[in-house]
Amino acid sequence: MITPISGFSKFSKKEKINWLSQTYLKSSDQSVSVLEQYWHEDEKLQQLHDEFTENTLSNFYLPFGLAPNFLINGELFAIPMTIEESSVIAAASKAAKFWHSRGGFKATVLNTTKIGQVHFLFKGNEENLKAFFTYCKPKLLEAVSSITKNMEKRGGGVTDIELRDKTDSLEGYFQLHCKFETKDSMGANFINSCLEKFADTFKNEALNFEIFSSEEKQLEVIMSILSNYVPECIVRAEVSCKVEDLSDDKLTDPKLFADKFLTAMKIAEIEPYRAVTHNKGIMNGIDSVVLATGNDFRAVEAGIHAYASRNGQYSSLTHATIEDGIFKFWIEIPLALGTVGGLTNLHPLVKVAMEILQKPTASQLMQIVAVAGLAQNFAAVKSLVTTGIQQGHMKMHLMNILNQYNASNKEKEELVHYFKHHTVTHSSVSEQLEKIRA
Ligand code: MEV
Repeated sequence: MITPISGFSKFSKKEKINWLSQTYLKSSDQSVSVLEQYWHEDEKLQQLHDEFTENTLSNFYLPFGLAPNFLINGELFAIPMTIEESSVIAAASKAAKFWHSRGGFKATVLNTTKIGQVHFLFKGNEENLKAFFTYCKPKLLEAVSSITKNMEKRGGGVTDIELRDKTDSLEGYFQLHCKFETKDSMGANFINSCLEKFADTFKNEALNFEIFSSEEKQLEVIMSILSNYVPECIVRAEVSCKVEDLSDDKLTDPKLFADKFLTAMKIAEIEPYRAVTHNKGIMNGIDSVVLATGNDFRAVEAGIHAYASRNGQYSSLTHATIEDGIFKFWIEIPLALGTVGGLTNLHPLVKVAMEILQKPTASQLMQIVAVAGLAQNFAAVKSLVTTGIQQGHMKMHLMNILNQYNASNKEKEELVHYFKHHTVTHSSVSEQLEKIRA
């Protein structure tokens, strides 16, 4: 029987691995050597990675790739993407090239407000609470002045504090609903520090507010935390061209393609089963740039999916129209990103990614990320309504299948050539491999 361990975090890395090996890995030397194989030989670099988080045993690599030829607002970008899934980077690159010759992508940041809330319970007279809030608001702002000083120098800070009554949903529940501008930082630490200070000040001031009854003075702060839902931090990216210009060497009937593409969009707008997969394809593009640039992809995911449900039903993040012979395709998403602070100044590969992107501001990064999502969706839906997804996907997946069968480099070369003109499936690859080996 396994017994709980205490003091695990105090163990050295070696000790942690030994404990793991004896407790869960049946003392398998093989698993231990795999963990150690992924240590970086540069000890300083390894220590940096170890210190990003806690109880680190090893590193988990993901491919860092590049999708070139993205024309965004007239400037040509190569976009770094960190993703394990085959065909995503190829699809992005293909869409980039397609739109490069059709005017490129236009992207605009619509707003950049971030939200944080102090959630509290107040069981008393609401008019008294309103009077207290009016009295207290300047004190709240004053209380965070040392935290906001530097942010204000960069043009950011606290932009509003509102008292919100949520008692319809939960007895006694109110919020300080706060708005922030955090410029090039994602702002999580800044926002949370301000909120905790607001909460303390609010609680303490309540104790001395004369109009309050003794019960009202005991308003109860439940928690103070930023929201990863940022519907006022929105970026829009779009492409457009004449319907007839949609044709390429594989697309002979652009009108038929455009109509099918629009129907596919409508399906994703009205049918949640499709919308989730449709948006998953968009997130392939978004997450891989968010990850490569050291941003928090869980926060981005949570916020974007909430936005996709904002009208009461989960729906597509992208939309398309044809008007006066012009095909237009766009995405609008909430994105809270940073290009300073957090991992952005620490992870060596993130620094490289930022350099590749010409050291963008947070707003520029929002545009690039939205474009990556739109490009990904265009490539996926284009394949879906024409050849089907598997043809391209399985071609890109071929190397993974060959690796599963431990194919040698020579076998890989031969089979990559063979499958240029044959359909890739697991069984067809296995069959051809057996033939060569026989
Ligand atoms: C696969 O990772 C993503 C797709 O399923 C997206 C889509 O269906 O639109 C191809």
